[in-house]
Amino acid sequence: MTSGDAAEPGDVPRPAFGDDIESVLIDGPQIQARLRELAAQITDDYAGERLLLVGVLKGAFMVMADLARYLELPVEVDFMAVSSYGSSTKTSGVVRILKDLERDIAGRHILVVEDIVDSGLTLKYLLRNLAARGPKSLEVLALLAKPSSARPELRVRYQGFEVPDVFVVGYGLDYAERYRNLDCIATLAPAVYSS
Ligand code: PRP
Repeated sequence: MTSGDAAEPGDVPRPAFGDDIESVLIDGPQIQARLRELAAQITDDYAGERLLLVGVLKGAFMVMADLARYLELPVEVDFMAVSSYGSSTKTSGVVRILKDLERDIAGRHILVVEDIVDSGLTLKYLLRNLAARGPKSLEVLALLAKPSSARPELRVRYQGFEVPDVFVVGYGLDYAERYRNLDCIATLAPAVYSS
């Protein structure tokens, strides 16, 4: 890119990641197009209402930033940071709240924004926790979901894409805290896990 060219989300320099990326499952423009569609749906669904977006850190920071800009609603945003115990590629279901919401959500319309529903255990915990605070409504947007997470009680109202049951990184998702700033969803070369 020469100076003066407009930057596109797809311009993240993947060569910076060397040979670590094995394949791109969903590219940047596909993500942006799907988020625009979901934002249009949410804009219709919450017309005239006050909506609070609750982003689940760290993974959801990219989705939150892009989704919020596509919504044609005067939303408020807040964040929770949670961490699940487990290995770097599998969660255990035991969730710890590292940062809680700043405000009371009783009587508010809440949309939880997640990057991925993998086993579904984090979301299950979060929904139970947030429902106990008495919101007026509680819905979920997840950019990605795995087939194994398809459980009715998880109620993902707005889903971006289904991804196969493989470990994915990018667009907020990490492996050992890396690759979150990729603009796409990708798989890693096996060598990354053994280094
Ligand atoms: C990831 C992701 C979801 C959760 C999904 O977060 O952001 O919150 O795991 O996994 P599950 O459906 O199997 O519970 P992680 O705990 O890795 O923290 P991070 O967002 O800070 O990377």
